[in-house]
Amino acid sequence: MAYVVTDKCINCKYTTCVEVCPVDAFHEGENTLVINPSTCIDCSLCEAECPIEAIIPDSEDHEKMDDMLSFAEQQSDVWPVIVQEKSPMKGAEEAAKIADKWELRSHEAAQT
Ligand code: SF4
Ligand code: F3S
Repeated sequence: MAYVVTDKCINCKYTTCVEVCPVDAFHEGENTLVINPSTCIDCSLCEAECPIEAIIPDSEDHEKMDDMLSFAEQQSDVWPVIVQEKSPMKGAEEAAKIADKWELRSHEAAQT
């Protein structure tokens, strides 16, 4: 079991989720985060921290669950760990209103 960052996070990245994680399971890409499914200990602490409810358990019914888990597994190998909250992405409030952003995900790492 692990928790999963869904496509709701894309182009938002509020990052309030990362600081509560006891095992530093979050990795940051250009326009979204992923949780490393191998690192996550399923503590559920991050779920309540996301203001747009973008984090769900992998046991939840979601049509893209398999894709999201594969993406998280792949990108955890290449994206850096993020442990400190930072400012959300520009336009996050507007982006949060868009449903189904899966195709907008970037495979690029976060710009530093
Ligand atoms: Fe980290 Fe717990 Fe969230 Fe997993 S469920 S990513 S261990 S805070
Ligand atoms: Fe994304 Fe929510 Fe964390 S928008 S960065 S999952 S706080």
